[in-house]
Amino acid sequence: MINPTHLVRPLVQSLSPYVPGEQPKITGLIKLNTNENPYPPSPKVLKALKIAVDSRLRLYPDPTAKPLREKLAMIHNCQPENIIIGNGSDELLMLAVRAFVEPANAPTQRGSSSATVQYFDPSYSLYPVLAETHGSLINPVPLNENFELPNPAKLKKDGRWQFDAALSFVTTPHAPSGRGFSTAALEVLCQKQKGVIILDEAYADFAEENALSLALKYPHVLVSRTFSKAYSLCFQRVGYFVGSLVLVEALQKIRDSYNVNGLGQVAALATLENLPYYKNNFAKIIANRSRLSTELAALNFEVFPSQTNFILTRPPIHLAEKWSHFLREKKILVRWFNKPNINQYLRISIGSDKEVIALLKAIRSGLKGSWN
Ligand SMILES: Cc1ncc(COP(=O)(O)O)c(C=O)c1O
Repeated sequence: MINPTHLVRPLVQSLSPYVPGEQPKITGLIKLNTNENPYPPSPKVLKALKIAVDSRLRLYPDPTAKPLREKLAMIHNCQPENIIIGNGSDELLMLAVRAFVEPANAPTQRGSSSATVQYFDPSYSLYPVLAETHGSLINPVPLNENFELPNPAKLKKDGRWQFDAALSFVTTPHAPSGRGFSTAALEVLCQKQKGVIILDEAYADFAEENALSLALKYPHVLVSRTFSKAYSLCFQRVGYFVGSLVLVEALQKIRDSYNVNGLGQVAALATLENLPYYKNNFAKIIANRSRLSTELAALNFEVFPSQTNFILTRPPIHLAEKWSHFLREKKILVRWFNKPNINQYLRISIGSDKEVIALLKAIRSGLKGSWN
């Protein structure tokens, strides 16, 4: 009998997969653990999807998502060739590792930096998984205190950041803290960086500013965006990169032929035809973010300033892990990370008015009651 374990590459055997936030199906659950949008897609998007569901499902979708790239190019003031669409931005992050980073054991004259994926720690926990899957090296570099972005002089002095790393991910606004980084500060970092730099702007629509202009100004900078969070389309899996022709063309070469499903393309296009609906939702989420932050601070929760659709907070009295269990019993799911540098915090997605009220009520009851 063949032992199938031996058929799996040793590298793959040794991998720890990415752990996504839970998606339990519990009736009445208030789900504030994966930064989904509390509001549904625009009714016009739902209508466009329903209309698209007919016998055309037997046909392949547009292989390059051209109409969607054209529409995005108009919005971002660039050419469709500056844009690649992915099956969620996660797919594009993975393609970037494959396109720009060598596996660590590949012969190369450029030294270990050509095999290095670098990112600030903490940030999106998918980055190291992508690097390790590709057999590349990782270089996690701490942020300043309170999750602030270190400037290049500080990074140089500390000596850990590699200005020639093949690929650097910067989550901006930052996750999981929610902190916004200024475009001016990001530009200085981009100017010093010699390898590819991806500004992962998954939450940019909730922020005061974004750095999209840098992707069109610097040939080694890519900006990553997603329809998942701000545009209520997690289910459809559509994200995109904006950047120079050379980098985008490299990514186009190695993606699957039909990487973006047809209904995802329909939904994303209809979304872009209905932006005022979404802008109104951003305003509601930002208002609730401010309300939740203020009320939690009044209850002695330490709350970091957020430019995203979530907040990071250190709860008082009990450990964050215990709070996450307590809230779960009240049918409210928030995210607790079992990682040393963030395990004292809860990350809470901003919900609807009703959800924020229910969360605050549960927290107040937790502060009053005695726990075992
Ligand atoms: C920082 C960051 N980047 C990218 C993504 C992935 O988004 P998508 O749904 O487009 O794959 C997420 C999702 O949680 C995220 O938090």
